[in-house]
Amino acid sequence: MASFASCNKTDLFLLLALLSASASAAASAASFYRDVDITWGDGRAKVLDNGRLLTLSLDQSSGSGFQSKNRYVYGRFDVQLKLVPGNSAGTVTTFYLSPEGAMHDEIDLEFLGNLSGDPYVLHTNVFSQGKGNREQQFFLWFDPAKNFHTYSVLWNPKHIVFYVDGTPIREFKNRESMGVPYPTNQAMRIYSSLWDADDWATRGGLVKTDWSKAPFTAAFRSFLLLLRQQLLDVAGVGCYQLEEDEVGAAQLHDLRLLH
Ligand SMILES: *[C@@H]1O[C@H](CO)[C@@H](O)[C@H](O)[C@H]1NC(C)=O
Repeated sequence: MASFASCNKTDLFLLLALLSASASAAASAASFYRDVDITWGDGRAKVLDNGRLLTLSLDQSSGSGFQSKNRYVYGRFDVQLKLVPGNSAGTVTTFYLSPEGAMHDEIDLEFLGNLSGDPYVLHTNVFSQGKGNREQQFFLWFDPAKNFHTYSVLWNPKHIVFYVDGTPIREFKNRESMGVPYPTNQAMRIYSSLWDADDWATRGGLVKTDWSKAPFTAAFRSFLLLLRQQLLDVAGVGCYQLEEDEVGAAQLHDLRLLH
């Protein structure tokens, strides 16, 4: 792992130059084949369209899921997601960050399905050093099963922010100075899954999964973080310390890449 001592203004300008020069090239090269491992579901998760699309499916015997090959400390993680359409009651689609270490940190987005015409719930949570119980739920203001929408987590030393299509919906501030645990130094992997949780997901478990509608399918398009990782590969240096206002829209912070 590179040390922060090597970060300086020259590095920053180099990275910004690379960012603007190769952003579009990197985006088109993002590939689920290269960047994630399908971890469960026995063929129910599929990479399609030359690596640009990944679908997860769920039937009565199993759901499915994948995880990123790399682990990250800090960054912005965007996913484009089209959720299970129609009667999705009982199903849960997840996108979360979690380390493998002993201390349980987790940054969570969970989409709780619903009967046709009833709204999905976006359930968010932050665990740090084993402490969770910080759920906040939101109704989405559009039908998330009709088109792809972008859901993001920004995680940096200052705060964790959840976004829907670029609109911040929740901020979890770092209040370590006041004794509140905050995820800081465990590298996290990205995980995603589609599974059955009809014992609690929809109206607190009252509405069950209708298996006559199975298989249920959710679709993923590429992550922004893959683009950023490629830029770091291009730069060939695992460390840039970026000031928030200097980076602007790219929103990269204290980025460290760990393989
Ligand atoms: C499903 O729809 C009902 C009725 O509008 C609503 O109360 C509930 O919060 C919705 N979402 C879930 C996950 O239960």
